[in-house]
Amino acid sequence: MCGIVGYIGTRQAAPILLDGLSKLEYRGYDSAGVCVFSDAGFQIEKTKGRLAALCELTQDGASLKGTLGIGHTRWATHGAPSHENSHPHLSSNGKICVVHNGIIENYLLLKEYLLAQGKTFVSDTDTEVAANLLEYYYEMEGDLLRAARRAVEKLSGSYALGILCADRPDTMLAVKKDSPLIFGFGKGENFIASDVPAILRYTREVVYLNDGDMVEFTANDAKFYNTLGEVVQKTPEHITWEMSAAEKGGYPHFMMKEIHEQPKALRDTINPRIKNGRVVLDDIKLTPEYLRGIRRIYIVACGSAYYVGCLGKYILEKTCRIPVEPILASEFRYSQPVLGDDTLVIIISQSGETADTLAALREANNLGARTLAIVNVVGSAISKAAHDVIYTWAGPEIAVATTKAYSTQLSVLYLLAMYIGDALGTLPGAEYNAMCKALLQLPDRIEEILTKENLAHIEALAEEFKGHHDVFFIGRNLDSATCLEGSLKLKEIAYVHSEAYAAGELKHGPISLIEDNTLVIAVSCVPELFEKTMSNVKEVKARGANVLGLTTANYEHEITKTVDRYLLVPQTHPLLQPSLNVVPLQIFSYYVALARGCDVDKPRNLAKSVTVE
Ligand code: F6R
Repeated sequence: MCGIVGYIGTRQAAPILLDGLSKLEYRGYDSAGVCVFSDAGFQIEKTKGRLAALCELTQDGASLKGTLGIGHTRWATHGAPSHENSHPHLSSNGKICVVHNGIIENYLLLKEYLLAQGKTFVSDTDTEVAANLLEYYYEMEGDLLRAARRAVEKLSGSYALGILCADRPDTMLAVKKDSPLIFGFGKGENFIASDVPAILRYTREVVYLNDGDMVEFTANDAKFYNTLGEVVQKTPEHITWEMSAAEKGGYPHFMMKEIHEQPKALRDTINPRIKNGRVVLDDIKLTPEYLRGIRRIYIVACGSAYYVGCLGKYILEKTCRIPVEPILASEFRYSQPVLGDDTLVIIISQSGETADTLAALREANNLGARTLAIVNVVGSAISKAAHDVIYTWAGPEIAVATTKAYSTQLSVLYLLAMYIGDALGTLPGAEYNAMCKALLQLPDRIEEILTKENLAHIEALAEEFKGHHDVFFIGRNLDSATCLEGSLKLKEIAYVHSEAYAAGELKHGPISLIEDNTLVIAVSCVPELFEKTMSNVKEVKARGANVLGLTTANYEHEITKTVDRYLLVPQTHPLLQPSLNVVPLQIFSYYVALARGCDVDKPRNLAKSVTVE
């Protein structure tokens, strides 16, 4: 959500800003803009729509001359996507120029005050309030740093701000709270950005700014300050991953690339954590004494990460015999959860920046629970705020719809389930060994799904079913949780309305929606519930539904008796089966989206990193 890039150096800034913004497109946006500073003053170009339009407007940056600038992709919150609301924003007298990611919650109050002080506004945005507030304090203080400090003291909400001042043609200021921002050290040039890919082409030495950090920098120097205004030293982290990890690498879309990266991502996440047949979680400090005292586990997350949590309920309850409650982060925070030192709160997030999840994590910390985060982005806000962190080593996930991050999050839950189950003595040795073996084999099993023949088969099914407007996913137990993810994928990237229901629940209401030719996707991979799910399939077939079944290869003969079309996955340990079942559903949604002409990697209205509540 919103992307920021800032540059100071000796090269022309605009092409670097546009290039950086193109690497942040995955975050989701609906307008874009850049401001370059030169002897001519601030030159701003911005436009509603895709970055390509801004590139055209500026002749790929060539029309904006200057070696210092800020760029922005905006995901609309306050005010529609429009030229006026696009960033960068100028203050009333045109001296301060700002780009912003986040939401300033008290902007109306501040706007009223600033209007009374004679400041003027041309947009509906909260960002323009920040620009005018900076101007207001700059006029008072005569010093940009002091003005910025006083201004941010007045802001509530979340922000990452890139700030230019017409009186300081060689300097940029940046500050952040609850929205991501990194600083990149170059040679004779320096950068800020919302995420590493934006600047990786230019530098690998970055600092992940903490909340409250402010940095004042020129091309050759950078001074970091903490919340108290004290100068702090920052040691850069060296980024080791390659730019190719954030490029399509021959695939038509990031989503397809990331689907194919699942075996590697799983190997990277699982293998280093299994040594001599035992799960070793060096990353966390949960002692057997602590684990024995846990009375309840919450799994808190949003979207697909929450659906991993829904699977986690079945997995952890079975292996650890502790009650587990998956809960949406946006609900958890305001539900007055009953927490204490006997509650473990597991937080799941790919980006590590999701505002709802971060807020829920802080709430859990405040209420005295122990928090353990499963996160993909190293150094992200969630990874820093949790008591313990287990990283998923999925690598950068660029497609808005998650695939490999989901799979690695699930694999970490297996590791955790085995770790806790073993410590509590609730997971018998034979079961532990079987899970361990199956876990190590998961990547190979997924590779078996990703064959050319399978992809072609799924593509043909997608072509056959692409015209459906209402789809029902049904399944029982673990399969019902997989259905939630399958249904979300179809909604978000193919814009097909779909519902996921526990198969046994259909007859309590939604079955009234089944009519001739309604598409029902029945996931039936829990062996002891196969017959029961097939009974539910017969119920919908009796009402005219067209049924696409998904089951394990050993049930092929059985499933053909009931469904119209089917997909098969290899069979694995029953608890690990969901890791395989989700893959054909990801591919199915991908092909339906393609067949419907959708923008697979950047679905409308969505953002990769949801940094607003
Ligand atoms: C769906 C999807 C979203 C995210 C959700 C949480 O494909 O990607 O539903 O799972 O926005 O995001 P993170 O995991 O970054 O907290």
